[in-house]
Amino acid sequence: MLTNPRLIATHALRRVIYQSESLSDVLSDSSIQDCDEKAFIQDICFGNLRYFEIINVILKELLTKPLKNKDKDIECLLRVGLYQLIYQRIPNHAAVNETVSVTKILKKKWSRGLVNGVLRSFLRDQDKLLAKANQQTKSALPPWLLQRIKKAWLNDWQDIVIASNQKAPMTLRLNINQIDRQSYLDRLNAKDIAAIPVQYSQTAIQLAQARDVYDLPEFENGLVSVQDAAAQYAGQILGCKTGMRVLDACAAPGGKTGHILETAEQLDVTAVDNKQQRLKRVDENLQRLKQQANCICADVADTDLWWNQNPFDRILLDAPCSATGVIRRHPDIKLLRKDSDIANLQQLQQHILRSLWPLLKIGGRLLYATCSILPEENEQQIAAFLVEQKDVKVCSIEAQWGIPLQYGRQILSGQESMDGFYYALLEKIE
Ligand SMILES: C[S@@+](CC[C@H](N)C(=O)[O-])C[C@H]1O[C@@H](n2cnc3c(N)ncnc32)[C@H](O)[C@@H]1O
Repeated sequence: MLTNPRLIATHALRRVIYQSESLSDVLSDSSIQDCDEKAFIQDICFGNLRYFEIINVILKELLTKPLKNKDKDIECLLRVGLYQLIYQRIPNHAAVNETVSVTKILKKKWSRGLVNGVLRSFLRDQDKLLAKANQQTKSALPPWLLQRIKKAWLNDWQDIVIASNQKAPMTLRLNINQIDRQSYLDRLNAKDIAAIPVQYSQTAIQLAQARDVYDLPEFENGLVSVQDAAAQYAGQILGCKTGMRVLDACAAPGGKTGHILETAEQLDVTAVDNKQQRLKRVDENLQRLKQQANCICADVADTDLWWNQNPFDRILLDAPCSATGVIRRHPDIKLLRKDSDIANLQQLQQHILRSLWPLLKIGGRLLYATCSILPEENEQQIAAFLVEQKDVKVCSIEAQWGIPLQYGRQILSGQESMDGFYYALLEKIE
């Protein structure tokens, strides 16, 4: 089993950068989850991907020629070393020596001089190198994405770019059936955990600094969950009432399933997702919250396979999307997402929306949600749906947060410290 944190971070980065695996999947490996230095490894990996373009420019300057494919682990080790020198508060000599020592564990002693040389050259010329890298990578977003964002948000794109490259705050969702927000803030305060209530939200609390969840009062008893304030509006807008039948389509890992169950009593919730592994996390979340739902692993659009013909009062469709509103939480999206994905996602979103509409009762409501800031996946999807479907009324979402659109409401990345999110509430009419 691997134990050296820099080695673990090197392998993790290689899997994301060169094998296109998602960072969350890679970090969920038990070798990382069980490692004492998990936080250090996570910081190196998240930070490396957040500042990927900057580190790229510096690497290009310092390496005389690119490393061969079989030696991409050494390139990733250099990324680990550079990240420590630029962004972490580790004494330079320790960062260099510890990083160089990994070449031995990798059984690539030949690279010892190279890693040592590159890191020391960086230290010699760091001001010049960083100035050049910052100048060349103004947006740090892939050009295709920047172009789409600029086109969609003429006046806001610069703020979106800045927000997408910053660290996201840790935000909690409080179960206000069990405790009011001020009392929980007092309990946090008593443990010296600085936090503020999020404006316009009934349930959200933002921490001044990220914490281990088990430091939070009664996390294990389900009093709070970790969830961005923007995502918490789903439960509020859906407006479930006692005893309703609710479908949580695309439910995993279950952040919103748990919240829906906290919004009203005796709900009959069906949670569907097509990834068994992710669906397990819905179960874990519900167990902690002491809630229950009928969890089904299926393609939610293939309703013949899983639906019992009993219609729903409420449907939450938290559609698979580009996740361009949450790049600050998942910086690997900048590497993994491609321009051509958008058209494929649009097709999938429209297909799921159309397949689920017949499952809704007359007078029932469907909330379409994405963590995307691209109109192609959001308002344009609702407009396209309305052309075909005549038994739909678009309900206005009365709120003080986000931007009201002709159809739905958009929160842009970083607005009031929130993730980028889109909501449209549709009601089925006769
Ligand atoms: C945005 S995430 C859902 C997040 C979740 N609602 C929450 O709040 O924790 C989208 C989910 O859609 C699932 N998914 C994608 N295509 C699907 C399909 N055809 N049927 C069911 N689930 C699907 C993915 O596995 C992923 O878990």
